[in-house]
Amino acid sequence: MNQNFRILALGDAVGPEAVRYLGAKLWDFRKQHGINMVVCNAENAAVGNGLDPQSAEKLLSSGCDILTGGNHIFRKKEIRAYLENSDFLIRPANYPFGAPGSGHAIISIDGFRVLVINVLGVIFLEPLACPFATVDRILERESGRYDLAVLDIHAEATSEKIALGRYFDGRISCIFGTHTHVATADAQVLPRGSGYITDLGMTGPTDGVLGIRSDIIIEKMRTKLPVKFELAGGKVEASGAIFTLGDDFSCTSVEYVKF
Ligand SMILES: [Fe+2]
Repeated sequence: MNQNFRILALGDAVGPEAVRYLGAKLWDFRKQHGINMVVCNAENAAVGNGLDPQSAEKLLSSGCDILTGGNHIFRKKEIRAYLENSDFLIRPANYPFGAPGSGHAIISIDGFRVLVINVLGVIFLEPLACPFATVDRILERESGRYDLAVLDIHAEATSEKIALGRYFDGRISCIFGTHTHVATADAQVLPRGSGYITDLGMTGPTDGVLGIRSDIIIEKMRTKLPVKFELAGGKVEASGAIFTLGDDFSCTSVEYVKF
């Protein structure tokens, strides 16, 4: 490959404001930065958490090539049938056999076959199948059918994400973490050539706690009583990273971006 292949990975899109914001900004950003492919974590894009088919369609028509999920992906009932029928929305691969949808997809981008995998961490989250073994099996099963691979690790623990990143270093070109909604300052190329960042951060309203109104979260934490979440207001921002891949799809740089 003589020219660079650039992937923009966007952190968790939170609520309709994030969907609208990407609808207004993403195509321009793609053009300005010479982006070949966009992957976005969308498990919180619907009102009240989860993802609905309308938001998924809007994100896919706004410049996202594929959407990934996480622990909230099945929350809206109507997304289950959509997951079964979509080639461009995946959910964590380590859910039990029979869960709606698929944990990986191979999509065609500028003539290249890109294997995109989504996996859920198991530390402080649901006790699903081992994320290491699950991704190993997918790489083995799809061997020869893809040119480069991308992995969204939707996980709580930074240690688990870093361990997964290092385990798949050299085998997956672009590895990033999602779920915590707070970007980490560790964008880097790992020793065997994988691009890596522990968390991409969040795309959505910034004047709150991880996208939710501050007063509601503070009340919940102080009183321990149940509360109803409402989305935060304030400025909307997109947060993510650009992975530049060179020869043999090894990563040459990872740059954190916010727009
Ligand atoms: Fe999550």
